[in-house]
Amino acid sequence: MLDLGPGAGLDLLIAARKVGPSGQVIGVDMTEEMISKAEENIKAAGVKNVEIRKGLIEDLPVKSSSVDWVISNCVINLSPEKEKVFSEISRVLKPGGRMVVSDMVGENIPEWLRENKNLYSACISGVISEKEYLSGLRKAGLEKVKVSERIVYQSDELESFIKSSPEISKDIKRIIRELDIKVASVKISAYKPAL
Ligand SMILES: C[S@@+](CC[C@H](N)C(=O)[O-])C[C@H]1O[C@@H](n2cnc3c(N)ncnc32)[C@H](O)[C@@H]1O
Repeated sequence: MLDLGPGAGLDLLIAARKVGPSGQVIGVDMTEEMISKAEENIKAAGVKNVEIRKGLIEDLPVKSSSVDWVISNCVINLSPEKEKVFSEISRVLKPGGRMVVSDMVGENIPEWLRENKNLYSACISGVISEKEYLSGLRKAGLEKVKVSERIVYQSDELESFIKSSPEISKDIKRIIRELDIKVASVKISAYKPAL
């Protein structure tokens, strides 16, 4: 199982339990600090079948056709090169392998919000639409691409997860008014065609 952008590694620990001692879990993250945090958490949990590799999800340090599952939570929206990420998912999955990711999508985001770096790291400014997400995965060669869960955010719900930075806080009312029902959290699954 491969987790794209595991951050502090919670999903790696859940995955390690799911695959059992004979399975292997790999996490690929680009940030040294997050890798150290995840390694600490893995050590504290006493888990032996998890490996973290430093690298980019646009150029995965993972062998082609070697992975049964790709998972990811709230990471692909951050990539400026999502087509590369989709094509890397397709490359590393074994034929018949499955991807299930949870991510943010959205449309009609005004340009002044797209340029806001704090909103980018809050997983808002880098989003693409659900339609673009699904077609990007299909173009990368994946099949049975579908959305199984969708939560569309209203402005009051957005406020709770984007106001943490001081730069955003001062403009928060205007920002959330603009974003009302324009962004959603989705769970998307897809398969690499079997041989
Ligand atoms: C919002 S956090 C999500 C962490 C984790 N998946 C979770 O659910 O808690 C994003 C993580 O993705 C990593 N990341 C973002 N863009 C990346 C990229 N292009 N390549 C590799 N890692 C990336 C960051 O370093 C960070 O650890």
